Amino acid sequence: MAAQTPIAFIGGGNMAASLIGGLVDAGWRPDQLVVAEPDADRRADLTARYQVRTTADNAEATREAATVVLAVKPQVMETVALDLGPVLREARPLVISVAAGIPLAKLGAWLGMESPLVRVMPNTPALVGAGISALCADAEASAEHRDTAQAVMQAAGEVVWVAKEEHMDIVTAVSGSGPAYFFLILEALEEAAVAEGLDRETARTLAVHTAGGAAALARETGDPSPVLKSRVTSPGGTTARGLEALERGGLRTALMDAVAAAARRSRELGS
Ligand SMILES: NC(=O)c1ccc[n+]([C@@H]2O[C@H](COP(=O)([O-])OP(=O)(O)OC[C@H]3O[C@@H](n4cnc5c(N)ncnc54)[C@H](OP(=O)(O)O)[C@@H]3O)[C@@H](O)[C@H]2O)c1
Repeated sequence: MAAQTPIAFIGGGNMAASLIGGLVDAGWRPDQLVVAEPDADRRADLTARYQVRTTADNAEATREAATVVLAVKPQVMETVALDLGPVLREARPLVISVAAGIPLAKLGAWLGMESPLVRVMPNTPALVGAGISALCADAEASAEHRDTAQAVMQAAGEVVWVAKEEHMDIVTAVSGSGPAYFFLILEALEEAAVAEGLDRETARTLAVHTAGGAAALARETGDPSPVLKSRVTSPGGTTARGLEALERGGLRTALMDAVAAAARRSRELGS
């Protein structure tokens, strides 16, 4: 049967809603999207916000779709995938999984189909359209499948492709967990500014905008981080004194340890 709806979402939670919002903003018509979601209030909310069609029936949404985005929590993925396997094997849509930590081989075994599958690791800034997602595809996924997966995930921000699926553990440790590292830095900057005498609101505004501004400068100039850093740092000045304290305090080593520890944990969870 020819697919009638370009994209079906299985699970209509936070990640699905951010992708749907981004796709609608990018010009997709609501009738090109369908969402399967068990919670009636959530379905009503999605229809009210994006005018998309919703259903409580995963198989119904899947049957008519050219692309199926699996956006349920990892712990329910096995049940959902086993249930949908027969429908997917018949309809053969592109399947995109945004579930953290579920390898392509495991998903393929649950679905009873090995291709075309794309695994994605998004991150929470996707919720405001500022995410970065890493994608990897099974060996048989076509260029067209990859383009479709990329277009869907670009609705929530930037995308990168990783050639080896094992690299998804490093992605998880850097960009998946990374927002929390930056929130810790924001928290510390804010506390420090308050301790030095600023009111909390001003401290937070300064910290948040400095982080956003530094990221925008790095992104827009494309200059290497050491170059950007040296441009802000005059010899003997305030920044030099601050950086010395950070190096002495071990921030660099702590961040390197954090990424290594998170990647190790991701490998443990995936095995
Ligand atoms: N949020 C992020 O930034 C982020 C980042 C990286 C990866 N991810 C991945 O994205 C996926 C979704 O995360 P999320 O944050 O969007 O979670 P979420 O808000 O909990 O969304 C999951 C949705 O799936 C629904 N659901 C539960 N069982 C279902 C079933 N059998 N069939 C269909 N739908 C079902 C849930 O409904 P109920 O609430 O009624 O159970 C919920 O609305 C996860 O696998 C997560 O690993 C998310």
